[in-house]
Amino acid sequence: MTASTYDIDKAAGLLRAGRLVALPTETVYGLGANAEDAAAVTRVFQAKGRPPSHPLIVHIGGAELLGEWVEEVPATARLLAEHFWPGPLTLVLRRAPRVPLEATGGLETVAVRVPGHPVALALLAAFGGGVVAPSANRFGSVSPTTAEHVRAELGDVVDFVLDGGPCDVGVESTIVDVTGDTPSVLRPGGVTREDLEAVLGRPVAVPSTSHVRVPGQHPSHYAPEARVVLVEPEKVVVEAELAQEQGHKVGVLLPPSSGDGPAAVHAVVPVPGSMADYARSLYGFLREFDQRGCDLVVASLPPEEGLGLAIANRLRRAAGPRDSG
Ligand code: TXA
Ligand code: MG
Repeated sequence: MTASTYDIDKAAGLLRAGRLVALPTETVYGLGANAEDAAAVTRVFQAKGRPPSHPLIVHIGGAELLGEWVEEVPATARLLAEHFWPGPLTLVLRRAPRVPLEATGGLETVAVRVPGHPVALALLAAFGGGVVAPSANRFGSVSPTTAEHVRAELGDVVDFVLDGGPCDVGVESTIVDVTGDTPSVLRPGGVTREDLEAVLGRPVAVPSTSHVRVPGQHPSHYAPEARVVLVEPEKVVVEAELAQEQGHKVGVLLPPSSGDGPAAVHAVVPVPGSMADYARSLYGFLREFDQRGCDLVVASLPPEEGLGLAIANRLRRAAGPRDSG
């Protein structure tokens, strides 16, 4: 069921009152609060269990509003905003004074995006301001791509969940730092590197590690409860069978062209052939393995081009070392 006009007005009223509203975007669901209300912003961090030094994205209702949230809009930022907004692209720029430091984790830069989802845009229009919205999951876990995921994980701390159906893109926005002379990708996402390069007319760097505080760079991010192991595509079946024989409850993300798949493992999910379908389903698959009681997930990386770059990034982080705490 998708949100009604009544729901949207109610959500806008809650935002004005400093409360937390979960909202659908085309990438993943966000946990929203009034970006200019420092106390509400602080509640977002508390609800997620996120360290206050990890900056949030400010969602705005249109590219024409960007200048109100940043110190200045360089030509490159303008070009990217015009091409990709509304859509899964986040631009990092120097912040305008109206952006509280609580939202930026103390940084002088701010991440801004115009989400490409009709319910999110209707909410932003009704509310009239900017909405900080990190993915609506607890810190370190898998991002939600349905309203049901949000209710299951944050139902007790969010004041209202706007339902906009399943997210179309399924992985988070691409974050591009446009503060310097050369734009660089801080997090691969729904807008591909190839799309960025086509618009900019030059190669775009995707640094493997970043000096900016991007919690997505933290290895234990986007992780299900089950341990994720990455192997070569042709080894997925044999490794999965071996682990199951050793007593694990194994879930398998079965790459295309793996034949019949492994015998007698706990759960097998065939990877969709199209990268867009794979990105859309990835987080749902990881949640499904947890629900089915898997303690180990065997997967391989897709080719790192197009949306495959973002999928591989999330799988690597899901497989990364866990925090002990
Ligand atoms: O698709 C998305 O981007 C989703 C939807 C809800 O819009 N949001 C999202 O938010 O993924 P979150 O908080 O889970 O991730 C935001 C990322 C973090 O990695 C954060 O460090 C980075 O944006 N970020 C925010 N402000 C930044 C800044 N000033 N400089 C560098 N990175 C920044
Ligand atoms: Mg997140």
